[in-house]
Amino acid sequence: MRLAQSTAMINHTGFTIGPIHIDFPVTLAALAGYSDAPMRTLARHHGAPYTLTEVILDKFILDLAKGKKMRRYLHPEAHPVGVQLMGINSPTLAEAALRTVELGFDAVELNFACPVPKVVGKQRGGRLMADPELAIEIFSRLRDALPENIPLTAKLRRGFGEEYYGKNGTPREVLPSSAQDENCYRMLDGLYNAGAAAVTLHGRFVRQRYRGNADWNFLTQVREYLDDSLVLLGSGDLFTADACVRMLEQCKVNGVTAARGAIGNPWIFRQARDILEGRPAFKPTRADWAALMREHYELTASEYGEQIACRVFRKFTVRYAMHYEPPCEEITMEMVRTAFSAVETPEQWEEALSRFYD
Ligand SMILES: Cc1cc2nc3c(=O)[nH]c(=O)nc-3n(C[C@H](O)[C@H](O)[C@H](O)COP(=O)(O)O)c2cc1C
Repeated sequence: MRLAQSTAMINHTGFTIGPIHIDFPVTLAALAGYSDAPMRTLARHHGAPYTLTEVILDKFILDLAKGKKMRRYLHPEAHPVGVQLMGINSPTLAEAALRTVELGFDAVELNFACPVPKVVGKQRGGRLMADPELAIEIFSRLRDALPENIPLTAKLRRGFGEEYYGKNGTPREVLPSSAQDENCYRMLDGLYNAGAAAVTLHGRFVRQRYRGNADWNFLTQVREYLDDSLVLLGSGDLFTADACVRMLEQCKVNGVTAARGAIGNPWIFRQARDILEGRPAFKPTRADWAALMREHYELTASEYGEQIACRVFRKFTVRYAMHYEPPCEEITMEMVRTAFSAVETPEQWEEALSRFYD
């Protein structure tokens, strides 16, 4: 399916995922350990037009009791929101996906990108980049099992990758090859033919994990290869709003998915909106940061309960601390990070916040 060369322009008014109109091209990526219901809600409040859950194993969904855990993972809010699933057994995948649709998720995404060795070792996630035919079959079967109005999307990497080992045996780089690229194009052809409403492509190889840079040139080539009518989202090295806008302009993708750049910085969506609409990017004050962190904490506390929230929230405060601008020489970022990392109770959390932010 080598289709006509694309002349796609960036559409600042967004794109569609099947019947869902996403009104802005910078969305929240799936982020294991982070894109829980509070983070997704916060991102939506601050300008993300669409969010995804972290990747969830089909079997895990089927095993979940309808208790608190169910709520944490399968809690659609601030629509439109998609659920990202992983699995290789079509019947269980279909059952899990249908359960998430019943719960109210607006779209389902299949993960063919996860690089975690345990996942890859079980032939799941990113391992399927090395087996396009199987990936396409799994995708097609799930497409057939879902109601027509529920869009199915896919997350890919640019290939599985062969690692090149340095003298001391540590992985040095992953070499691109035409066979790898062929696999990726076969995946894309097969997935769109099978009805993919959108594909998100992370421009790194699976074996690369997060090392090295994402290959934006590859994204550009893929966008040029695909027909204009097909929706392609880009991922990789989107650490700032500027980078999001640059990827949109350079690669001509329909949208981008902010990942590490959105952890501890939900302003990225608002800032990208400002830049795309010709305004200077919003610069939050310390008071803005404090209000944002309080909002995030309150969402987390109402989701998990106060005590658990303190633990869950620690990893976020460490990320927030990375953006902290000390008001005087006596305060360092390290002090902020250390204080938040030690928080055990709601009182300690409030004390740390008041001390450094109010
Ligand atoms: C902590 C962490 C968790 C991630 N979890 C997922 C996930 O559950 N599903 C997924 O498709 N990608 C996941 N990713 C990949 C990101 O969505 C994104 O593709 C990748 O980080 C590249 O974007 P970035 O360089 O802008 O961070 C994860 C990445 C990180 C750093």
